[in-house]
Amino acid sequence: MTDQSPQAQLDLIQKAFEHDFERFFPYARDPITLELDQALAEQRAVIELRTRHLGKKSALAASKKLIGRVAPEERAGFGQKVQAAEEKFDMLLHEVEERLREYIESARTARESIDVTMPGRRPRSGHRHPITLLRERLEDVFVALGYAIEDDREIETDFYNFDALNIPENHPARAWQDTFYTTEGFALRSQTSTVQIHAMQRRGVPVRMIAPGRVFRRDTPDPTHNPMFFQVEGLCVDRGITMAHLKGTVGEFLKRMFGPDTVTRFRPSYFPFTEPSAEFDFSCFKCKGSGCRICKNSGWIELGGSGMVHPNVLRAVGVDPQEYSGFAFGLGIDRMCALMYELDDIRLLFENDVRFLEKFE
Ligand code: FA5
Repeated sequence: MTDQSPQAQLDLIQKAFEHDFERFFPYARDPITLELDQALAEQRAVIELRTRHLGKKSALAASKKLIGRVAPEERAGFGQKVQAAEEKFDMLLHEVEERLREYIESARTARESIDVTMPGRRPRSGHRHPITLLRERLEDVFVALGYAIEDDREIETDFYNFDALNIPENHPARAWQDTFYTTEGFALRSQTSTVQIHAMQRRGVPVRMIAPGRVFRRDTPDPTHNPMFFQVEGLCVDRGITMAHLKGTVGEFLKRMFGPDTVTRFRPSYFPFTEPSAEFDFSCFKCKGSGCRICKNSGWIELGGSGMVHPNVLRAVGVDPQEYSGFAFGLGIDRMCALMYELDDIRLLFENDVRFLEKFE
């Protein structure tokens, strides 16, 4: 190149630019139809082109140093030509740069804009937990039998959790190792029987209610125990209520839950707040009493506790036991749920595993 005259070199520089620029020229003239990524790549290529032809190390910059080799009378003319070439390159590049910049900006805006007519992603709708489904079934049965539904607190004073339920001071249920207490000394209710007291205080007697709800015990989790579980309490107090009413009500409830052939049996037991007390079992809904895995081959399934309301409980809420009598019962919803759905482990109910919970839709 150095052998050639400065003018010839300038001609070559211009040719080289035109050659390199040719590919980009349509961007300045025609509508751009590139993808955004391609447009960005072209923008980078134009920047490279500018550096190559107009940068400090470009041939054009070098040609300015050739001015000394130009005959003195031609120097001014040569200088003007170099400058004109520089201005032309810059103008052409600038045009293409601007068009690409505008195009990229609008392509970005178009990509980021939201099409409000596009269908959205539908959130997966949940459904009720198996415990809730069972609780609602229990509620339906008792509402049909004329019972009200009570919902009450889970944190109790000793009066409601123990004293009013005829659970004396030295009873093991009151021990720290049996019941959860808050730091202020309140107990987390260990059974829904506390609602018997609230319901009679609130409604007076006669009363017929069930109270489903959460209870807490310091039980180590295993396939049939959780430290938090659900019970449903039943209470009926009126004049002339007898054990026959208890047996009839629980029997009817179990028939409605498990079918008209269901047989109920009562076994003597002990609860401080009922006298006499009885636990109740029902004939296995699966094998109808002949013995299977669910009833552990006994033909019977144990369900809960019951009895005639203890006179001391009636007295605790100002009801005269000479005038009124009543029955109460309570059962564990979690274990009943495990039975009905043939779960081997009640802990499954609280693991929040969607694959398990989806089965109950
Ligand atoms: C009671 O809690 C009495 N309140 C029932 C009662 C009410 C008797 C009214 C008389 C009159 P019990 O401690 O047996 O009884 O518990 C009742 C049911 O709760 C049990 O049959 C069982 O199904 C369930 N249960 C008890 N402990 C747990 C536990 N840790 N995890 C899950 N279920 C439990």
